[in-house]
Amino acid sequence: MQSPWTGKKRRKEAHFPISTSAISFNSLITKCLFLALVLYSDLPARAEEPHRIPDAPADFLAMKNPIDAGQVDKTFLKKTARLYKRKCSNCHGENGDGKGSKAEFFQIKPAAFSKPGYLKQRKDGQLFWILKNGSPGTEMEAKGPGSRDNFSEEELWSLIVYIRSAFTR
Ligand code: HEC
Repeated sequence: MQSPWTGKKRRKEAHFPISTSAISFNSLITKCLFLALVLYSDLPARAEEPHRIPDAPADFLAMKNPIDAGQVDKTFLKKTARLYKRKCSNCHGENGDGKGSKAEFFQIKPAAFSKPGYLKQRKDGQLFWILKNGSPGTEMEAKGPGSRDNFSEEELWSLIVYIRSAFTR
């Protein structure tokens, strides 16, 4: 006859090996999860991508410069060249190579307009969007209406005409 005690003991014996393997299996999963977490949290720091100038939204990319580059005269270009020299060249360089006097201190470098092919593959609307709103997290500040420089939209478009005429390679 089986006493309640023996029955208890037998159940315990029967359960013991099962619960042991359950424990070690659990701790294996815990270790894996922990390892995965450590590796994952380390990823962003390791795979730091080089900075890219953000792309303008589609409605900006579709914009055409309202100033016809074929119609501007020398006086217009001289005036915008002065504006560029005063407000842009210390970063973007007098000859548009992105190596203005301040540029060496910046982690994210100013765009080099005169780099061969650069301006040909940039849309007017892209340049306009960055000029108007700046590029957050970089030294490129917003230049449009209401900004510190407070340029009119026409001035921004005229700067784009100048940049293209002077620096396209
Ligand atoms: C204090 C430095 C500084 C000044 C001044 C500055 N820029 Fe910039 N500019 C930058 C930097 C840095 C970038 C690159 C931003 C990025 O990588 O996201 C940039 C990017 C740009 C772009 C984006 C180019 C593209 O391919 O999308 C345009 C256009 C531009 N600048 C025009 C100008 C003009 C015009 C002026 C003068 C009115 C000017 N910037 C003044 C630092 C400057």
